[in-house]
Amino acid sequence: MAIIAPSLLSADFLNLKADCEMLNKSSADWFHLDVMDGRFVPNISFGPMIVEFIRKTTTKFCDVHLMIEEPEKYAEAFKNAGADNLTVHYEACRHLHRNIQQIKSLGMQAGVAINPHTPVDLLKDILKEIDLVCMMSVNPGFGGQSFIQHTVIKTKQLKEMINEQLLNVKIEIDGGVTLANAKMIIEAGADVLVAGNTVFKSKNPAETIAALKVI
Ligand code: DX5
Ligand code: ZN
Repeated sequence: MAIIAPSLLSADFLNLKADCEMLNKSSADWFHLDVMDGRFVPNISFGPMIVEFIRKTTTKFCDVHLMIEEPEKYAEAFKNAGADNLTVHYEACRHLHRNIQQIKSLGMQAGVAINPHTPVDLLKDILKEIDLVCMMSVNPGFGGQSFIQHTVIKTKQLKEMINEQLLNVKIEIDGGVTLANAKMIIEAGADVLVAGNTVFKSKNPAETIAALKVI
């Protein structure tokens, strides 16, 4: 069974507490929190302050996806806000190994996200240092976009690389995940499904999460 990580980006920010409580009661495993800086991606979302508020509502794993430049400047702030995991973008980190060491030394799990155009081969030498690869299946910046089909091939390739190195790195698929494509994504090797619009724009978000969970 996949880990289900609803993305709060699609939540109702005027009723954030209610949405967090819904997630707590649901079969969601993780909270996926999307941080955007208007530089690395063409959108601005929220920062450590909102993460800290959300953290107070839940004991579930808080998976923080940093779509920002210079993540090293903010890693400690997100640790203090209560992040369990920090994912940084391959494309935003000139010294990726150093970023990963920083995140781990702060006591968090570390993830690396790759954009749709970035080949999985580039992760070969960092895989053994990390807990998670976040495979972007849309161009990062916005919820509600369509799944890029090529991600399925990349997921299979990455799964092979992880198995070859006998590692325990999770593959997270982020963007355009629906009830219709989730099975195919899991079969390709995904361990974690992020879902924003599919969950929060559905009639009954908790039921949608339950349906994703049993796929
Ligand atoms: C996109 C974010 C995603 C997004 C997913 O930049 O990283 O986590 O919120 O939203 P959906 O599931 O609606 O594509
Ligand atoms: Zn995300």
